[in-house]
Amino acid sequence: MNPEIPRITIADVGRHAGQTVEIDGWLYNLRRGGKICFPQVRDGTGVLQCVAVKSNLPEETFEKLKDLTQESSLIVRGKVRAEARAPGGYELDVESAEIVQRVAEADPYPITPKEHGVDFLMDHRHLWIRSRRQHAALKVRHHVIKGLRDYFDSHGFVLVDTPIFTPAACEGTTTLFEVDYSETEKVYLAQSGQLYSEATAASFGKVYCFGPTFRAEKSKTRRHLTEFWMVEPEMAYADLEEVKRVGEEMVLFVIGRVLENCLEDLKALERDVAKLEAIKAPFHRMSYTDAVKKLQSKGSEIQWGGDFGNTDETLLTDDLDRPVMVDRYPGTVKAFYFQPAPENPDLALGVDFIAPEGYGEIIGGGQRIHDLDLLLKRLDEHHLPREAFDWYIDLRKYGSVPHAGFGMGVERFTAWMCGLEHIRETIAFPRMLYRTRP
Ligand code: 4AD
Ligand code: MG
Repeated sequence: MNPEIPRITIADVGRHAGQTVEIDGWLYNLRRGGKICFPQVRDGTGVLQCVAVKSNLPEETFEKLKDLTQESSLIVRGKVRAEARAPGGYELDVESAEIVQRVAEADPYPITPKEHGVDFLMDHRHLWIRSRRQHAALKVRHHVIKGLRDYFDSHGFVLVDTPIFTPAACEGTTTLFEVDYSETEKVYLAQSGQLYSEATAASFGKVYCFGPTFRAEKSKTRRHLTEFWMVEPEMAYADLEEVKRVGEEMVLFVIGRVLENCLEDLKALERDVAKLEAIKAPFHRMSYTDAVKKLQSKGSEIQWGGDFGNTDETLLTDDLDRPVMVDRYPGTVKAFYFQPAPENPDLALGVDFIAPEGYGEIIGGGQRIHDLDLLLKRLDEHHLPREAFDWYIDLRKYGSVPHAGFGMGVERFTAWMCGLEHIRETIAFPRMLYRTRP
């Protein structure tokens, strides 16, 4: 290869109009006539239509391009030309090409432009992620994660990562994955980093953890994965209202980033962007008790004391254009660590953010118990072994303060941004009840 000729990305072609450049990528599509062919090359940053004219090229170059198989890897060299009719506004007039690996005709790329069933596509997820829509969803995910990190990093939070092997159940014992780790102690995959973030918040004031979390969800729904990524801020000297304020500000910040960086990707996903642009502060606020009344008036069978199912969450927001923050759930449907409401100790100072358009709960959080005796009582009521929580109990002995935080699932949020039906398309390699491959 000639060092004089720059190797550029397709995202960058606009800066090289009239210049001869090299692009390395994969054959996305190919149209051809007898004396001309149009290889479309993708390189991860975009798709570029190339034009190879038989009379302008060495015989051998034209021959190897005109029959090239889908997803063969290649490096093309040619001159960039502005072309108003081309999708990205540019085309490349091919001067030469090097085929890096030609996909064999006998064993062609399995994903073709025709329709495939979702099981087939999920079995070929390692290849499916190259497709336009999947690529777009993963790009949006990237910007969601970057937006979340930038939000916390610029608002005084310190990132402190929490362990994945843990002896303590955070979110109830029914969704724990037990690990064969040691003979003397029970160890599980973390359901949440929260308990540890409560410890790190007493060191830094405001912290967040951001990592994979695990739930042995028995339910097979479009909103549940067994392995998902969660961002969890935790704040010392904070209460339920602070959780709502920060959660709302964070959601708006990240939506802003997605709209700023992902319009092309949202277009590829056919997302109605106006719905995202309409999300503004203040979000709706409602108590659990009022939410139950609203649901009953809309025909739900829910009774006070019950937890919301997917259909209830969808029903609750079907007349709303922005998320609703539902607070003060009955303590009995929530985890052990919630601070009771001062006006009624049967209610938990917890809040769920329910997204519109049927995306359901995207955030769960609230204020934590800071009183030692109350915490001990709750651990017993929930049949949680004190030994596994000895260090967590310590936090209530040594400078305990009111504190609060929340968790947001990256995949649910990304599905909402992308307008995707199922969250399995928002992570490169989803893990679900019946899927651990590829
Ligand atoms: O409501 P959850 O269970 O809350 C917690 O884990 C708290 N400890 C968080 C905290 O206060 N630090 O989960 C929080 C969020 C949900 O709102 C949802 O977005 C996501 O995590 N989530 C899931 N996402 C995908 N698949 C699952 N199985 C999920 N379970 C929860
Ligand atoms: Mg929840």
